[in-house]
Amino acid sequence: MFNTFIANSMPYMPKAMVGFFAKRYVAGALPEDAFSMTKALNAEGAMGTIDLLGEFTDDINKAKQTVEMYKLVLDNIEKQKLNTNISIKPSAFGILFNEETSTKFMTEVISYAHSKGIFVRIDMENHPYTDYTIDLYLTLSREMPKSCGTVLQACLKRTIDDIKHIADSTEQANIRLCKGIYKEPDEIAYNNRKKVQDNFLECLELLFQKKAYVGIATHDDVLVNGAMELIKKYKLEKHEYEFQMLLGVRSELRKRLLADGHRLRIYTPFGEDWLPYSIRRLKENPAIVGSAIKGILTG
Ligand code: FDA
Repeated sequence: MFNTFIANSMPYMPKAMVGFFAKRYVAGALPEDAFSMTKALNAEGAMGTIDLLGEFTDDINKAKQTVEMYKLVLDNIEKQKLNTNISIKPSAFGILFNEETSTKFMTEVISYAHSKGIFVRIDMENHPYTDYTIDLYLTLSREMPKSCGTVLQACLKRTIDDIKHIADSTEQANIRLCKGIYKEPDEIAYNNRKKVQDNFLECLELLFQKKAYVGIATHDDVLVNGAMELIKKYKLEKHEYEFQMLLGVRSELRKRLLADGHRLRIYTPFGEDWLPYSIRRLKENPAIVGSAIKGILTG
């Protein structure tokens, strides 16, 4: 109950207080922070995916700045030979403004990345944007093969059908599979932990059957173990899939996966707009804040 109270209070906490707990989830405010974090991850044997924070913008100038910042990131990935790709979100490129704008800006970033041989992951946001994101991914990966991939969420009831549609529409799908972070209505989503886990493994098996390249994005032992069984069942080689984790989460799992020789990619966000992302992360695990506050209160 204490943790639920903490989770609900998060948006009302002073920014500095959230920042104190949220530091672990973000590389820093500047692009250089993301580059040095990526270097450190690469030295550990992990790959990266750099994400510029800032989402749901209705300011066209901010969306333009996002394009320029991603180009700077891509230039540096090339120059500094970083083993990382990038992740982008439609709502950071002005989808709230209109779809044409976000499509134009995202295409610009993906084309720029493609010219440098750098892969782009289009993150999946909440359900009003699912169709848009899948369509954009399919269109751009047809125009620029292997330039980009997208994300599917196991919490959505539609995901199994989306996998069939994507597999029928592209030569080799490139999908990050995750549970889904957004609170979605019961009519369209499983809002029950066990059902989401079951659907995750069902979707993963279908993706493997369809020969997709999958980023298995989870820190949940049930899903990591279930994925290992499927990897064995389908006799996949290490280069035919990867695990993906968030910066600041379960470093012991990260070390174990790397020690066992799996490909592992760490989601590495940076930017001034760290607050909404950090609140989402802390709400996923309010125990982190809860135990620190309990410690302060009880001395
Ligand atoms: P679960 O939440 O059950 O976590 C399992 C265990 O991991 C917890 O018990 C705890 O120990 C630890 N843990 C999890 N979250 C933690 C946290 N924040 N702090 C500390 N410990 C934590 N979602 C989405 O809707 N669209 C997207 O594009 C993406 N992209 C994405 C990329 C990558 C690389 C990852 C790993 C995840 C995403 N997600 C996402 C988020 C995803 O949907 C989901 O919300 C989180 O991964 C948490 O779910 P788990 O599967 O880790 O299980």
